Amino acid sequence: MYYPEEIVEEVRQRNDIVDVISGYVGLSKRGSNYVCCCPFHGEKTPSFYVSRSKQIYKCFGCGEGGNVTTFVMKYENCTFPEALKLLAERAGVKLPEETYSEEAKRRESRRQQLLAVNKEAAKFYYYQLRGERGAKAREYLDKRALSNETRKSFGLGFAPVRGEELLLYLRQKGFTDDLIRDAGLAKADERRGTVTQFWNRVMFPIQDINHRVIGFGGRIMGTDDKGPKYLNSPETEIFDKSRNLYGMNLARSSRAGNMILCEGYMDVISMHQAGFAQAVASLGTAFTPGQAGLIKKYTKEVLLAYDSDGAGVKAALRAIGILRDAGMSGKIINMSPYKDPDEFMKNLGKEAFQERIEHAENSFLFEIRMLERDFDMNDPEEKTNFHNHIARRLCDFGEDVERENYIEAIADKYHIGFENLRKLVVNMAAKTGGYAVALVSRERPKSGMNSRGKNPAQENARKAQRLLLTWLTDYPQLYEKVKSYISPDDFTDELYRKVAQRMFADIEKGQFHPAGIIDLFDDEKEQSEAASLFTTQLPELETVQEKEKAFHDILVRVKKNSYEHYLERSGVEIAALSIAVEGKKALEELNKTHISFN
Ligand code: GTP
Ligand code: MN
Repeated sequence: MYYPEEIVEEVRQRNDIVDVISGYVGLSKRGSNYVCCCPFHGEKTPSFYVSRSKQIYKCFGCGEGGNVTTFVMKYENCTFPEALKLLAERAGVKLPEETYSEEAKRRESRRQQLLAVNKEAAKFYYYQLRGERGAKAREYLDKRALSNETRKSFGLGFAPVRGEELLLYLRQKGFTDDLIRDAGLAKADERRGTVTQFWNRVMFPIQDINHRVIGFGGRIMGTDDKGPKYLNSPETEIFDKSRNLYGMNLARSSRAGNMILCEGYMDVISMHQAGFAQAVASLGTAFTPGQAGLIKKYTKEVLLAYDSDGAGVKAALRAIGILRDAGMSGKIINMSPYKDPDEFMKNLGKEAFQERIEHAENSFLFEIRMLERDFDMNDPEEKTNFHNHIARRLCDFGEDVERENYIEAIADKYHIGFENLRKLVVNMAAKTGGYAVALVSRERPKSGMNSRGKNPAQENARKAQRLLLTWLTDYPQLYEKVKSYISPDDFTDELYRKVAQRMFADIEKGQFHPAGIIDLFDDEKEQSEAASLFTTQLPELETVQEKEKAFHDILVRVKKNSYEHYLERSGVEIAALSIAVEGKKALEELNKTHISFN
């Protein structure tokens, strides 16, 4: 869906960023801004700033920034049109009926075709499982104790030994070989033409949250069958393994109040069969931040039901970190003496599992317990070492109450005196600088210039351009006074040039909104960078004279850089020479001119 810019702008203006963000997180006022702990990365001291006057947010910890729409997109893990719809509804703005752009129409129809071929393939596999040739697969699923109802709700199927049958079926339904290949159902083979991805496997269709089949996992049935135990579809235009979860289509409406993250498809299936419809699993790859974001749309409480072996523990520790970074709390379900939820369920049943859920271990305590395994507690030196490691980890808690609670829990569990552990933590914080050092030193030279960076000259030029845009954001009235000296061409950085073009045009029209400019960029990184242009702190200058001097300084630097930049190119680009000549004139003029702030 493509919405005209006026509508996008209207929706944005009717949704105050401070009001919208405070609907998601608690903001507190600090100076002319609002602050909170960043919802996009784990932190304990607030570095997430929201500006009402600029309608922009920026996190000085992780760099994430943007306007009200990008915030909603990021927080809700949704697309631009979805965010716009949500905000339009919130503010009572009526959006125009859907009118698709040609490009959007083409993309949408392509997606529909890929989904259609996947759906047809799932149907084919589904009937194969129930037909004559599916006997062996049915036997396998019997052995794994999956009920008919379970097989149906997961749409399980069977890929026959002769893969070509799928091709014949799909061709007869009118799908081209190209499309079949693009959907990951087959690939081109030099000798044999198009060959299918799956044969002689039990098929697990992978669905998105709207129950549409986006890919498949296929499992061998016998131990002597060739190939990997599970084979998955490759990633395609509609199958993004890092942003989907197996079972999520069902789990999202389970209302359990939490989600259970497992490692395997079979784990998810047997959990659902036992009544734990909140179980999901990643798609044959490690758990990702994108998947954490997907879960976060539904719940903040995640229980990990990973395998109890070494690999499972390692994967769980990684997942804990990802959940923490996403601002969610994780707990670990103890599966012992069984390997995974599937085996546990078969042996001990659902009541026992429910009990394990209730006794799930706090992720921090789990991490410490796993850490303990690396130390020999009978050796005094190693024991001390272990305690120091604990103390270091405890320093990470920024909130006093939380830290105290953990100190108490750990002291109790590992028989360390509470006061002793506390002292250790305090010493550790003092030694490592604790928390406070995490804050970047705010000292800068007076003009705000700073020559650190990879390519100092280029970095300095970019910095000057950035500062000039920030000055003009904070003092738009200055534009009138400098517009004869400066143009968007003077911004040699492409992103800044784009911002300047739009900004100058908006100021001319008397309707400059920093938040609107962020929508010029599709890329999240670029959005954040554009946001930083409007939130960069200008050096704190006392007097008007100081400000005028600093501003003049920046203006000259930008102009000088631009002059040199175009002069260098004048040998190859005809237009560059005239820009350089103009630039030289403007520079001379500028050197004689005083730009007053009043
Ligand atoms: P069962 O052995 O059938 O109980 O499967 P499981 O779900 O318990 O699988 P397991 O714990 O062995 O592995 C967890 C997940 O890793 C599986 O569900 C697959 O997504 C993936 N996986 C396992 N084996 C393979 C493999 O050989 N290749 C690939 N690509 N993925 C695999
Ligand atoms: Mn298993």
